[in-house]
Amino acid sequence: MGSVFLKMYKMKVRGVASLKGRVNTQGAKNAALPIMASCLLLKGQKMILDNVPNLQDIDTMTDLLRAMGVSVSRDKGTMTFDVPEDVSCEAPEHLVRKMRASSLVLGPLVARYGRAVVSMPGGCSIGSRPIDLHLKGLVKMGAKIEMRNGFVHASAKRLRGCRIYLDFPSVGATENLMMAAAFATGETIIENTAREPEIDNLATVLRGMGVKVDAEGAGCVRIRGVGETQDCRERVIPDRIEACTYILAGVMTGGEVTVDDVVPEHIDALLAKLEEAGVSFSVLPTAGNGAGYSVAVYPNITKKLRPISIKTMPFPGFPTDMQPLIVAALTKSSGVSLVEENLFQARFLYAGELNRMGADIDIKNNTAVIRGVNSLDGAVVAATDLRAGAALILAGLASEGESSVENMEYVFRGYENIDAKLRAIGADVALEAADQS
Ligand code: EPU
Repeated sequence: MGSVFLKMYKMKVRGVASLKGRVNTQGAKNAALPIMASCLLLKGQKMILDNVPNLQDIDTMTDLLRAMGVSVSRDKGTMTFDVPEDVSCEAPEHLVRKMRASSLVLGPLVARYGRAVVSMPGGCSIGSRPIDLHLKGLVKMGAKIEMRNGFVHASAKRLRGCRIYLDFPSVGATENLMMAAAFATGETIIENTAREPEIDNLATVLRGMGVKVDAEGAGCVRIRGVGETQDCRERVIPDRIEACTYILAGVMTGGEVTVDDVVPEHIDALLAKLEEAGVSFSVLPTAGNGAGYSVAVYPNITKKLRPISIKTMPFPGFPTDMQPLIVAALTKSSGVSLVEENLFQARFLYAGELNRMGADIDIKNNTAVIRGVNSLDGAVVAATDLRAGAALILAGLASEGESSVENMEYVFRGYENIDAKLRAIGADVALEAADQS
């Protein structure tokens, strides 16, 4: 895949032009990753996945599956996974370290092969991110878990269906345990599950493989394990976080931007908050796409956003992944906004970078106090994680003068062709190789 992922890049962003035009939403990274891992439930069978975004994290999951023996090919957005009769049950440390979502192979491997050795994912720049809930659920299903030299060794003759209550509706734990339950004896009932749209996408794939999954009850998933699977084909849902990034690019530049291929109910939390902040937008069927919807934002009559308060919460609450993006948008509101982060401990590292651009943000415990300023100034800033990088680009678009957003590697993990997509709606942005002194 593109060598753009191998080098260090920065993005030059020249601000204040109102963006105008249409952007199409990519497939969701966070739906594609667990679905890719779920192919390990197949044996001598094939999974075809459409609408897969071309991203660094997708490449990492591809490398991981290949290292295990799966043959993976790609033709534009369609990926094919040919799974052999037997795979290696060990997830190499360097790949798990590169991407936490690598631990999603744990559930399917123990379910299908009775064994998995997966390096413990470490902390990351948004906070410590344990996988205790994943492991606790597997133990309840009868797996034996041992930690040795930084690796999780999981084993089980055959997992057994049971009732699992998640202490927190973790997205990854829900996904790992759903995949583990696919081959368990009897029925597994997982309670207090994550309700993110990505969970439904995985449920649909598991059904396509022949597993009986009922994920209709809010926060409860029931799975009846199977003895055999079948080839399957599914489409990755649109990426709600990417869609909201371009919606906010329109809002922050006072532009007129339409984002296509959006599922409105996936982004209700942002739309409700934009309404409160006084943004004019409409949700309309996408021309020429029978089932799809678009969101169009229009120049703000009052010019400035009204200040608002937000608390991040599991879906359908306001997503933590949109938190840095909305904070960037509120830097130029007409008053004081409060944004409380409830999912991750260290997700405000980027606030200091926004302040370098003239924003006025104080972090008090887990709350950002954002005092709206009249203008932002271009500056050299560095992404601290994926969504922080996107927030800095948004701020750069709404600043006077030029900014340079460094550490674009983070951004490539989750945004396909972000420079080309922004240019197509009138942004003055360019990727440049960073000096590697
Ligand atoms: N947690 C535990 N124990 C566990 C699992 C989670 O304490 O066993 C805690 C975490 O430490 C965190 C909270 O629960 O504080 C939420 O974690 P969750 O498991 O729900 O998140 P995740 O599955 O690790 C996914 C996304 C993240 C997104 C979160 C929350 C993927 C691949 N990643 O992570 O996406 O922020 O859900 O919605 O699906 C991103 O795309 O930029 C990103 C970080």
